[in-house]
Amino acid sequence: MVDISRRNALILGGVGIGGVAIGGTGFVVNQESRRHAALEAAPGVALVQPDELRSSAGILTVSLESSPQQVSIAGRDVRALSYNGGVPGPTLRVRAGDTLSVSLRNGLADPSNLHVHGLHVSPENNSDNMFVTVAAGDSFDYQYELPANHPPGVYWYHPHHHGFVADQVFGGLYGAIIVEDPDPIPASRERVLVISDITLDSAGTIPAATAMEKMSGREGDFVLVNGQVTPRMNARPGERERWRIVNACVSRYLRLRLDGQQMSLLGIDSGRFEAAHEVSEVVLAPGNRADLLVTATAGTSVLRAHTYDRGSSGGMMMGGGTSASADDVALATFIVTGDDVAPVAATPVQPVPRDLRTATVTARRELIFAMGMGGNMGGGMAGNTSNDMGGGMMSATINGQVFDATRIDTTAQFGSVEEWLLTNTSPLDHPMHLHVWPMQIVEQSGRRVDTIMWQDVVNIPARSTVRVRIAFDDFSGRTVYHCHILDHEDSGMMGIITAN
Ligand code: C2O
Ligand code: CU
Ligand code: CU
Repeated sequence: MVDISRRNALILGGVGIGGVAIGGTGFVVNQESRRHAALEAAPGVALVQPDELRSSAGILTVSLESSPQQVSIAGRDVRALSYNGGVPGPTLRVRAGDTLSVSLRNGLADPSNLHVHGLHVSPENNSDNMFVTVAAGDSFDYQYELPANHPPGVYWYHPHHHGFVADQVFGGLYGAIIVEDPDPIPASRERVLVISDITLDSAGTIPAATAMEKMSGREGDFVLVNGQVTPRMNARPGERERWRIVNACVSRYLRLRLDGQQMSLLGIDSGRFEAAHEVSEVVLAPGNRADLLVTATAGTSVLRAHTYDRGSSGGMMMGGGTSASADDVALATFIVTGDDVAPVAATPVQPVPRDLRTATVTARRELIFAMGMGGNMGGGMAGNTSNDMGGGMMSATINGQVFDATRIDTTAQFGSVEEWLLTNTSPLDHPMHLHVWPMQIVEQSGRRVDTIMWQDVVNIPARSTVRVRIAFDDFSGRTVYHCHILDHEDSGMMGIITAN
C-alpha cells in the first residue's frame, strides 16, 4: 500500500466554509452565449470540461493571454484572472517527443510568466525558464521540447513570477497539461478536474490576502471544480472513468474521497505505479496531481475534500489560527444510473518505475524549512503588499535564507544522483516542489518507504522529515525548488539550483 494518505488527521477549529451547496453555474466568461447559464442556478449543473488543445504531427502551438475578466460564479459576476477567457485555461494535450510552443501575452497589470509544472523539459532559454519576466502588456514565446521518453500523466501550467504567484493563481490562472499514454488505458470516458479555491467579497472581487492568511497560506471560501461549484457528473454502472485531477489551490490540501465508488490510482504527478492501486482516498498537496480510475457503482456519491490538518501557525503570532479547514467540502456529485455496461478491458501493466534506492549517491544535503517571526528579512517579503503585523514580520526560509534571485543555493552535478533530507521545523506542513527533476521518496519520518514513489511535490509534515533521491539527468541548467503553498513561496521559501 502506498502511503500517500495521511491518517489520524486531527480536526481543528477553523473558518473554512464547508459543504456550501450553492447552485453551481460554472465559472465561465460572461459572453452573451454563455450568460444564460448564470440564470439557471440549479444545483447540479453538469461538469464542463475546459477547452482542449491537442498536438498533431508532434507539435502543439498555443496562444495564451492572461487578463482580468468578468466571469460568473455561483450566480455572481466576479472579476477574476483568466487565460484565454476561461477559468481554468485550456487543457493542453501532448505526447512524449512533442514540441509545445506557447506564445504568452501578459494582459495583467503586473509582471507574470509561465511555468509548466512537472514537465521534464529544459529550464533554460525560452523553455521552462523561471528567470523570464513578462512585463504587463508584453509577450514571450516559450518552446518546450518533451523528450521521447517523457512520462505520461497529468501536469499543469501557472504563472511563476516571484512575489505575484499566489495572487495570480488564486485569481484564476491555471490549466491542465496531459501527456498522453503511449498505449491507451481503456476507459469509458476521461475527465479533467482542475480543483481550485477562491474567495469573493460582496462586490464580486477577490479580496487581497491578509498578513495572517499569507502566513498560514490562504484558503478560499469556495472550492471549485473546473471553475464550477458542486457540478454534477453522470455515468452508468460498470463504466470506468479516468479522472485527471489537479490541485491548483494556493494552499489547500485535498483529502479526496468518493464513498460508494471504486477508486484505483494509476499514479501521482509523473509517478506511475506498475499496477493501479485500489484506494479509499487520495491526498493531494497544493501542486500535486492524481491520475485516477473510477469504476461506477449504481447510486449517487459525492466527491468530497475531507478535513486535512496541515498544522497551525497559532504558536507563531498572536491570534494565529489553524490552517485546517473545519468541515468537509462537497466538490461534485457523481450520479450513476441506467443499465449496466459491459466490463471495460483490464488496465495494462505499466513499465517498472526507476528505483534510485540502489543508485550510487554522490551528494547528500539537508534542506531545512522554517518559519518564524522577524529576523533574517533580507528582502524576504518581496512583493507588492505590506506584511507588517504590528511590528512582527513573517519569515519563511530554507536553510535560514529567503529567496534571492542573484544567489545560487545548490549546485548539483549533471548526471548524478543526490539524496536530500527535507526537514520541517515549523508547525505547518510544507509541500516541497522541485522543477525539472522528479523526486523519489525513500523515507518518511525516519521510516523507509517500501514502494517506488515518484512525485514532484513532496509534502513535509510539520516538525517532520522526508528523504528523497533525485537523478539530475537529461537537462542541465538553473531552476528553483520551493514550498508550493504559494504564499510561502512568494514570502521567500524558495531556493535556486543549478545542475551542470
Ligand atoms: Cu507549480 Cu514552481 O511550481
Ligand atoms: Cu513546478
Ligand atoms: Cu510552506
